[in-house]
Amino acid sequence: MTTMRLSRVMVCLAAAAIPLGAAEVIPLKPVSAFASVTDEKARSVALFVEAARVITSPRCMNCHPATRQATQGDDLHPHVPLMYGGRYGVGLPGLPCRACHGPSNVTTLAESIASIPGNPAWGLAPASMAWQGKSVREIGLQIQDPVRNGGRTLAKRPHPARRRSSRP
Ligand code: HEC
Ligand code: HEC
Repeated sequence: MTTMRLSRVMVCLAAAAIPLGAAEVIPLKPVSAFASVTDEKARSVALFVEAARVITSPRCMNCHPATRQATQGDDLHPHVPLMYGGRYGVGLPGLPCRACHGPSNVTTLAESIASIPGNPAWGLAPASMAWQGKSVREIGLQIQDPVRNGGRTLAKRPHPARRRSSRP
């Protein structure tokens, strides 16, 4: 993976980073912090390891499950109620994700559920992009593999989680 492509991912991830609670937030290092690593391969690895702090957060993993079932919370427990991605990742015909997840985050009045996160494209990542249980190296290889990453160049397309940063 080239450093330039990784730099783009870092910028994108920084934009998508979702606060996990004030006490736990350690901001990502800026790309410039890696400029002193002169070996390109070492720099790529260092950038990806930094990016993986976001990638491996439960907020991301919950939609990139190993099975076709959504998970929730910091402990990746099965979604309540149990939710299956179905063929296209957007739920089963009788209970699609959009029955509850609207185009944007919705604050609830319930104490136990602060908000229902939302996005117009809410749904599970495809099975080829399953990350739960994988090492950072395995995820890195997956993201670079056009067969599994939807044939995309890195960080090009809008992502379903992008607008979730306002989640209370
Ligand atoms: C019956 C309503 C309902 C349906 C249908 C539904 N969800 Fe949810 N989902 C919720 C609620 C409510 C929450 C917030 C729970 C909380 O904060 O404790 C949630 C939270 C989540 C989260 C957790 C986000 C996080 O930050 O931990 C993910 C991921 C998720 N849903 C994915 C999906 C997917 C994918 C589908 C469709 C396959 C789906 N949901 C269908 C109600 C639903
Ligand atoms: C609401 C569910 C959801 C959440 C939450 C989520 N993703 Fe995704 N992710 C998807 C979907 C759906 C795709 C496939 C999008 C497509 O193919 O256009 C995807 C694809 C990706 C890809 C492309 C994978 C590849 O192999 O190239 C990356 C990178 C990614 N997500 C990163 C993240 C990061 C980082 C987070 C946390 C900030 C995150 N995702 C959280 C649903 C989610």
